[in-house]
Amino acid sequence: MNKPWNVKQIKNYKHKVTIIVPTYNEAKLIREKLDNIAAQSYPRELFELIVIDSASSDGTPEIVKEWAKEHPEIELKLIQESVRQGMAYALNKALQVATGEVVVVTDADCKWLDKRTLEEVLSLLSDPSIGAVTCPKIPSSNGPIEIEKSYRDFYNVVRIAESKAWATPIFHGELAAFKKSLLEEVGGFPAFMGSGENYAATLIALKGYRAIAFEKIKCSEIIPKKDYHKWRIRRAQHLIQHFTKFIRYTGTAPERFKLILLANVYLHLVNPWLLVAAMVMLVYESVTVAPLAIALLLLGAFSLLCKPYRTWIAMQLYLVAAAVRNLWTKDILWEKQVK
Ligand code: GDD
Ligand code: MN
Repeated sequence: MNKPWNVKQIKNYKHKVTIIVPTYNEAKLIREKLDNIAAQSYPRELFELIVIDSASSDGTPEIVKEWAKEHPEIELKLIQESVRQGMAYALNKALQVATGEVVVVTDADCKWLDKRTLEEVLSLLSDPSIGAVTCPKIPSSNGPIEIEKSYRDFYNVVRIAESKAWATPIFHGELAAFKKSLLEEVGGFPAFMGSGENYAATLIALKGYRAIAFEKIKCSEIIPKKDYHKWRIRRAQHLIQHFTKFIRYTGTAPERFKLILLANVYLHLVNPWLLVAAMVMLVYESVTVAPLAIALLLLGAFSLLCKPYRTWIAMQLYLVAAAVRNLWTKDILWEKQVK
């Protein structure tokens, strides 16, 4: 974290940007989302907005059409799919009609917290070594905010540290910006699994470009009111799918990215199972009254009083549950959560 960023930003670097918002039943949030994008200070003539909707049944496209009428100053294309085939599939469709040199994907249930977000993103992309940019994320209201905050306090730091070292293999749907030419070179988004932004960003990093989570870009995301655990497990499933795909690249990754990728493969695919194995062994030994095993178990139980440790344990258990659930579903068409 103490390392410098080593980025060469040209302030005032402006190119045409395409912002893509994928939607599936976002009637409740889409208006606010479009308002939030329209509030950007970036010149109107330099951005186009694409909303790609996959067969929403709650009237999302109608709200988008209404909004577009109220905002003739904004170039908005609405694409309506008649069959839902997943977020990445939809994003690829939008990519085909995107005319910007930079493509920014942003989910409907989040906000950019600064009017100058796009300016900041563009000035980062002025650095030829940077291929993709994302944001740290700040959880906002509705759901169990405490556990989510504690999770983010930990993971945002890791993402930023990886980015300072070179690149992060985990991107966020709140803001995932790509140089379009690079995005096309890596084949767009993977329709065969969840977690499309991560996949594209990691392929770009493997090509030798930086893919960074920049601390000055702040996005907020609404935490679901209900079924927080289900939501976490689904996201963990997508991360597992992601890192499973990249195991074979760990050997050939550019030197600066190799350790980062390897560490994440280990943390997402191996480490959670070590926790399970250790617990099983300690419980087994405790039954035979081994004092050391009992002491370690008690120490573990007391450590749960400490929030970061508790959060870390919870995340390991989500990864274990996710690995098991991945055996029968990839959850590419995931259930819409109540926000
Ligand atoms: N067009 C389209 N088609 N959009 C979809 C579809 C679909 O089949 N499924 C979901 N979306 C839209 C949602 O309306 C929302 O704007 C965005 O994609 C993200 O979906 P959420 O339901 O909000 O899920 P999330 O916030 O947990 O998704 C996050 O995790 C995914 C991986 O697990 C995001 O960061 C995603 O970008 C990421 O892929
Ligand atoms: Mn979301």
